[in-house]
Amino acid sequence: MNNRQLFLQHVAQTSDAPLALEMVKAQGMYMWDASGKQYIDMIAGISVCNIGHCHPAVVQAIREQAETYMHLIVYGEFVQSPQVQYATFLTQHLPASLNSVYFTNSGSEATEGAMKLAKRHTGRTGIIAFKNSYHGSTQGSLSIIGDEYWRNAYRPLLPDVLHLQHNDMGMLEQITERTACVIAETVQAEAGVLAPSVEWMQTLRARCTETGTLLVLDEIQCGLGRNGTLWAFEQYGVVPDILLAGKALGGGMPLGAFIANRDIMWSLTNQPVLGHITTFGGHPVACAAGLAGMKALLSEKMMDGISEKEQLFRSLLQHPRIKAVRSRGLMLAVEVEDFPACKKVIDYCIANGLITDWFLFASNAIRLVPPLIISEEEIRKACAILLAGLDTL
Ligand SMILES: Cc1ncc(COP(=O)(O)O)c(C=O)c1O
Repeated sequence: MNNRQLFLQHVAQTSDAPLALEMVKAQGMYMWDASGKQYIDMIAGISVCNIGHCHPAVVQAIREQAETYMHLIVYGEFVQSPQVQYATFLTQHLPASLNSVYFTNSGSEATEGAMKLAKRHTGRTGIIAFKNSYHGSTQGSLSIIGDEYWRNAYRPLLPDVLHLQHNDMGMLEQITERTACVIAETVQAEAGVLAPSVEWMQTLRARCTETGTLLVLDEIQCGLGRNGTLWAFEQYGVVPDILLAGKALGGGMPLGAFIANRDIMWSLTNQPVLGHITTFGGHPVACAAGLAGMKALLSEKMMDGISEKEQLFRSLLQHPRIKAVRSRGLMLAVEVEDFPACKKVIDYCIANGLITDWFLFASNAIRLVPPLIISEEEIRKACAILLAGLDTL
């Protein structure tokens, strides 16, 4: 049997129609399949590969750390230099109140940790999230994602969760002294790139402060440069009480984090002690890779020119079959009529060497979320393939 057949037989499947492309190499903006065909990557592993695939500094850091030590002990006991260095670097690039980093293996676990932390810190149970938000697939994070279709088969889920409409001012009154935390994606990604207004975000922040509710901003997908600033919340003039990071955080390795003030984080240290435990969270190799990746993002000025690149996409994406283009930095959703049309264009793109897909809660929108290093020429090339795909509708 070939690898594809073995994949279908022995690797657990999450859908009955996986893409099942067999990539054998990835570098920068590109991937290559087993036949040698080159693909331009327009989804960056769903916002993981913000600095491109296999950045040499990340590869070098992984190599060096793997030769030094890998797993030593469960999280939080030994002083492990890669964790310490990365936590310090991250907090140097965050507002002063966000000075304590809890590293996890994934975004879902960061969400879980934040929910537990908010309950412990406030002594409250209520959690408010938003329709069409995505925060992960574990049972806690599934309880707060904003779409009943994805949740329903797994009930009973967490009680005391309320879903409001993102960007709806009137609903913010439902945040009360009973609410432990409000969890929001700063910019909703899987909804098909929905950015709230500055006014709404600032009112949300104020309402949380007024009621003693912790504001958790999920920047697992929109953070680390994706929206044109290091953190998306910078564009809103607010600071969350807890920040969720993941995806690009590990430079391509698995790593997530929930980040808060030390005084809040302290709630996890007693009654019970070890309030949140992880064996592999903050793995030294993942932290070394993440640190090298974030340093490359900053020192190579990969965020420079994001807004020009966004505008170039928007100016090129003109076609009668396009219903709307929503964007925030290099996170773009190209909306077409319906899912069949979207799927037809995506299949055309992949057949013509461009990797893209749709969004979990917006199956009629094509995802354009390339590594931030994409050049003007590559944007033109990608848009030409996409427009040719739209011509087939
Ligand atoms: C906004 C957001 N939050 C949380 C998650 C969950 O992250 P992970 O898949 O690493 O558990 C995702 C993943 O897509 C995400 O996009």
